[in-house]
Amino acid sequence: MHIPSIRSLTEGTNQLQHQHVLIRVDFNVPLSEDGTEILDDTRIRETLPTIEFVLRHRGKVILCSHLGRPKGKPNPKYSLRPIVDRLRVMLDHSIGEQVNVAFAPDCVGDLARELANKLEDGKVLLLENLRFYAEEEANDPAFAKKLAGLCQIYVNDAFGSAHRAHASTEGITHFAQRAVAGLLMEKELNYLGKALTNPAKPFVAILGGAKVSDKIEVIENLLTKVDAILIGGGMAYTFLKAQGMEVGKSLVEADKLDVARQVMASAKSRNVRFLLPVDHVLANRFAPDAKTKTVGGDEPFPAEWMALDIGPKTVDLFAGQIAEASTIVWNGPMGVFEMQPFAHGTSAIAELVAANRDAVSIVGGGDSVSAIKQAGVTDRITHISTGGGASLEFLEGKVLPGVAALLKKP
Ligand code: 3PG
Repeated sequence: MHIPSIRSLTEGTNQLQHQHVLIRVDFNVPLSEDGTEILDDTRIRETLPTIEFVLRHRGKVILCSHLGRPKGKPNPKYSLRPIVDRLRVMLDHSIGEQVNVAFAPDCVGDLARELANKLEDGKVLLLENLRFYAEEEANDPAFAKKLAGLCQIYVNDAFGSAHRAHASTEGITHFAQRAVAGLLMEKELNYLGKALTNPAKPFVAILGGAKVSDKIEVIENLLTKVDAILIGGGMAYTFLKAQGMEVGKSLVEADKLDVARQVMASAKSRNVRFLLPVDHVLANRFAPDAKTKTVGGDEPFPAEWMALDIGPKTVDLFAGQIAEASTIVWNGPMGVFEMQPFAHGTSAIAELVAANRDAVSIVGGGDSVSAIKQAGVTDRITHISTGGGASLEFLEGKVLPGVAALLKKP
């Protein structure tokens, strides 16, 4: 996949200088209940290289993003205004000089246009939430055209939103004079793309989370590429039930038992090691203060108990695969890690992935990324994706609409 990159606009002549550069970022960051405090600024931090790139080349930076799901209407709870101060501090810190960051209380219309027109080289303007207009998610051409009218160059750096065919990610490319990928978009596509097309072997995928139905297409796509798949989390119990095991009140998707059997048969025929938990941390109810016990794989679960984490023997089993891997992709927790008694399996996997310094390790999905942060091993992971749904759809083998739109641009 050869995606046009912002870097190509500075090779030879600097085509960014004096230009209005509209960068679609994904500032959909977790905020406090009242919408004023940023709880995790990773997504902002990851866009700094692209913003700095344009500033260094004396372009005018206009940033646009969505935040939350305000359902097509203005809602102060989802305003991007609280991002301005944080962005200013982060840019000052990384560039080493004060950067002017202004805010436009609308993303289109006279005011947005006026503020954009007045913007000077080397300065930044953040537009208000795109999703305050229903036209954004509807991929309305007239709205996309208005956005495109703010700039000479459109840059998509919002990998986290690339699975959405919205006006600011897809429609705009039909109207923008130039449309290229930003540095974060490029980095994400490079790491995830290489894992799917040319991974160093052995390639081990670790998949968790509650439901098989959420991951089935990822499993099917990865089965054609990996040497081993390690399954944890709630979804393991649909597979174990499909093998005939009694799993008590553990989460089972009854309508997915046949699919689970097909997947396991397909893994076998392809010689892919398909490893399920061999022991389990059980709870008598779904609560942090539930009674718990660890049982081995051959013991039937008491009828009223449910598995909420993988046990130590499973961690050992997975450890061997992870230690030998040259490429590791991890998406989804191994248990209900937000409840302390069931967090151990997920944090042990985070440590194990981080400990294999020879492998290319790629972690995606909000929960596994949180687990990596909680374990304090962020700097020992090769690539932490900023995409939740986007990284999952990429691993399913889909071409993301935001990426496809850039690929079509001359
Ligand atoms: C995300 O957080 O996955 C992206 O920002 C997309 O958000 P959405 O699911 O509301 O479209």
